[in-house]
This record gives sequence, C-alpha cells and structure tokens, in this order.
Amino acid sequence: KRVILVGPPGSGKGTQSPIIKDEYCLCHLATGDMLRAAVAAKTPLGIKAKEAMDKGQLVSDDLVVGIIDEAMKKPSCQKGFILDGFPRTVAQAEKLDEMLQKQGTKIDKVLNFAIDDSLLEERITGRWVHPSSGRTYHTKYEPPKVPGLDDVTGEPLIQRKDDTAEVLKSRLQAFHRQTEPVVDYYVKKGVVANVHAEKPPKEVTTEVQKTCSNRR
Ligand code: AP5
Ligand code: ZN
Repeated sequence: KRVILVGPPGSGKGTQSPIIKDEYCLCHLATGDMLRAAVAAKTPLGIKAKEAMDKGQLVSDDLVVGIIDEAMKKPSCQKGFILDGFPRTVAQAEKLDEMLQKQGTKIDKVLNFAIDDSLLEERITGRWVHPSSGRTYHTKYEPPKVPGLDDVTGEPLIQRKDDTAEVLKSRLQAFHRQTEPVVDYYVKKGVVANVHAEKPPKEVTTEVQKTCSNRR
C-alpha cells in the first residue's frame, strides 16, 4: 500500500499514522518530523528550513522533495509507505508521481482528513509531544498518565514551537492556499477517501482502517 494523509494542522495525521503503519507494516514518512529533527541537529537542511517553519510557512519544494526522495529509497519503504504531510503543493505531488513512475508504482489511496478550522486551535495548543518517538498527547483528549511525561519512557514532553494560536493562522492559510489544491489533484485520479477527522480518535481510527482495507 502507498498511502498519503492530507489534512490541516491538528487534524490527526500524526495520531493515526502509527496505527496504519503497524497494521500494514509500512514505513511512516512525516516530512514535518524529519524537518524538526534536522532543525534540532542543526544540519544544513535544518538551518535552511527553520525560518519558514517557525513562521508557519511551507519550506521550499526542492528541500522536501529531496528528503522524501532519499527516504523512499530505504529498503523498509519498498513494500509501501504512509506519507504524512507530503505532498503539500501540487508541484510536490507532480514530483512524487515522477518518482513513483520510475519505480513502476503509484499511490493507492489519499486519505483526506476533513475538519472545520474552528476545532483546530484547541487541538494544536493542547498538544504535547515526545520528540524522539513522535508520540503525541493532548491535555484534554489524550492526556499522558503523568502530566508532562511520556507514558512509555517517562521522558519529558515538549510543545512544538509552531503550536501557538498565532502561528496556526499562517499554517492554516498555507494549507488552504497551497495544500487544498493537492486534494483536487488526487480527486481527479479517483483515489481520495474523506475521513471525518472531527470525531473522537478511536472513531477516526475505525474509519481509516475501513478505508485502507477496501480494495479499490
Ligand atoms: P507538520 O509537522 O506536517 O505539521 P502540520 O501539517 O501542521 O500537522 P500537525 O503535525 O500539526 O497535525 P497532525 O494532523 O499530525 O495532528 P496530530 O495527529 O498531532 O509540518 C510542520 C512544518 O514543517 C510546516 O508548517 C512546514 O513549515 C514544514 N513542512 C512539513 N512538510 C512540508 C512539506 N511537504 N512541504 C513544505 N513544508 C513542509 O493531532 C494534533 C493534536 O490533536 C494532538 O494533541 C492529538 O492528541 C489531538 N488529536 C488527534 N486526533 C484527535 C481527535 N480525533 N480528537 C481529539 N483530539 C485529537
Ligand atoms: Zn503531524
């Protein structure tokens, strides 16, 4: 399976990814996570990406296409993958098509996490993450057993620098302007399934599982 998750910030892409990943043994490629790791490690890529990320704007197509191209070559990604947060522009989608064509494969499914903007501020400002594993919590909807600590490792949780109400506005603007056209791009190819992302996490999971197991 080759699956893409599209949706606005806070729609639940990162929350649902591990579940699909485990069920189908796919690799999970999240450009946001990879970019944050590069920023933290101060690699040349991270240094270039940081400014746009802090402002809630998209990083340049060339940079993200480069990291995806590299990551997809990993042996563990040959059977299939979940792309979380990529492609985010039509230009990225076209590049991805080219890469897959070369391998003789294509995208099976695009899950469109549909949710009203008004619900996203609470999701974003209540999020806490365990940076090294990517595990995500929410103060109200998915609280950790001990406040501020990861359930599995006991290590501290952090809030993302771009998870403020202010930066969310720019991220949403980028989503509507640059990423929504990507959904249309895949609708034309007949591979889009809509997910009711406003429902509680477990119900979203059920929907995602149904969609993924349906043979097109
Ligand atoms: P990225 O990391 O991809 O951020 P995003 O798209 O803004 O998405 P989020 O991670 O905020 O949302 P999510 O859908 O994963 O939500 P989650 O499941 O955690 O990108 C960050 C930045 O990197 C971009 O701004 C850009 O600068 C750059 N970038 C990345 N990819 C790029 C690309 N391809 N091109 C250019 N630039 C790129 O859930 C959120 C919260 O809600 C959590 O607390 C969770 O516990 C809770 N929650 C989840 N589901 C539910 C539910 N059903 N009910 C209640 N609460 C829920
Ligand atoms: Zn995410």
